[in-house]
Amino acid sequence: MNPVDYLRVSLIDRCNFRCTYCMPEGQDLEFVQRQDLLTDAELLTLLRDVFIPLGFTKFRLTGGEPLIRPGVVDLIQQIAHLPGLSDLSMTTNAYLLADLAPGLYEAGLRRINISLDSLDPEVFRQITGRNHWQRVWQGILAAHAAGFNPLKLNVVVIPGVNDTEVLDLAALTLERDWHVRFIEFMPIGNAELFEHKGWVDSETLRQRIRERWGLIESAVRGNGPADIFQIPGAQGTLGFISQMSECFCDRCNRMRLSADGWLRPCLLNETGQLDLRQALRKEQDLTEVRSAVAELLRLKPEINFKARDRGTDTNYSRTMVQIGG
Ligand code: GTP
Ligand code: 5AD
Ligand code: SF4
Repeated sequence: MNPVDYLRVSLIDRCNFRCTYCMPEGQDLEFVQRQDLLTDAELLTLLRDVFIPLGFTKFRLTGGEPLIRPGVVDLIQQIAHLPGLSDLSMTTNAYLLADLAPGLYEAGLRRINISLDSLDPEVFRQITGRNHWQRVWQGILAAHAAGFNPLKLNVVVIPGVNDTEVLDLAALTLERDWHVRFIEFMPIGNAELFEHKGWVDSETLRQRIRERWGLIESAVRGNGPADIFQIPGAQGTLGFISQMSECFCDRCNRMRLSADGWLRPCLLNETGQLDLRQALRKEQDLTEVRSAVAELLRLKPEINFKARDRGTDTNYSRTMVQIGG
C-alpha cells in the first residue's frame, strides 16, 4: 500500500469559470462564507503541526480556482517555507496566470497543472462558460516562461464536445516539453451531463493516438493517478487518468482538505470526514487533532472508493468545486 503523503488543499470553493462538467452555470451552490474559510494562519497551523508531522510532504493547492483567494501569493510563500515540505503545486484554470506566474514562482511554487479542454476558442467557451481561451493560453505561456516544470495540461474528455480534439491536444507534446493529460469524465459535479454524454475510456484515446503516431508506455509513474505515455520522439508526455475504466484506488496516496477545513479521505466516498476548522476554533489540543487525523489515515484503505465495492454513486453532498478536484 502507498504511504499517504499528499494533501490536496482547497483554498477557496468559488471559481471565475463555470465548466460544464464541474460547476455548470445556474447550478445553485452554497459557497462557503468568508468567516467559515480557514484563515491563512489556521491553514499554516494545520500543515505545520498536523500534516507534516504525520508524514505529508506534498501539497497541491486547488479550488474552486485557487488564484482568486485574496492574498494567495503571500500564503504560498509561507507554505513554501514550511520545513518538511518537499513538493508544492497548484491546479488552476490559468485565467490569472499571465499576471501572476512570475510572482508565484518567486514565492516558491514549482509545479502547475492547468485545465485546457479545447484548442478551439468557441468550444472552450461552450465548456467553460467564458470566452477566455486566448487569456488562458497566454497564462500557459507565462507559466512556461516563468520556469514552471513540469507543466501539465488537463483535458476532461466529453463525448460529442471535445473528444474530436484529442489528436490536436496530444500534438502539443510533439514540440513542447509539456504534459497533456486526458481525464475520464467522472460523475461528480454534473451528473446530468454525465448521464447525457457519458465518458470515453483512456484505451480508446490511446488507440487513436497509437494509430497516428505510435505510443510508448513510460516506465516512470508520477505522484498521482496518471498513467504516463509518450509519442515516440516527442518532447512532452501524455497522461491518462482513468478513474472510470481502471480505478487506481489501491495506489491512492492522498487526502483532501476543503476550504472550510473538512478533511476528506477519498474524493469519491464521503465517509470519515473530519471538521478540522471546528477543532481549531474550539482550541482542541493539537496532539488530539493529530491523533484524530492519524486514525483517519489508518482507516483510509477501507474508505477508499474501490474498497466500497459498489457502483459509482452520483449523489454527493459536496461537488468537485467544493472538494478541490
Ligand atoms: P500530480 O500527479 O501531482 O500532478 O497531480 P494530479 O494529477 O493528481 O492533480 P490534478 O489536480 O491535476 O488532477 C487531475 C485529475 O485527477 C482531476 O480530474 C482530479 O479530480 C483527478 N484526481 C486527482 N487525484 C485523484 C484521486 O485521488 N482520485 C480520483 N478519483 N481522481 C483524482
Ligand atoms: N471529472 C473529471 N475531472 C474533473 N475535473 C473537474 N470536474 C471533473 C469531473 N467531473 C478536473 C478539472 C481540473 C481538475 C482539478 O479536476 O478539469 O483539471
Ligand atoms: Fe483515492 Fe478515493 Fe481517488 Fe480512489 S477515488 S484514488 S481512494 S481519492
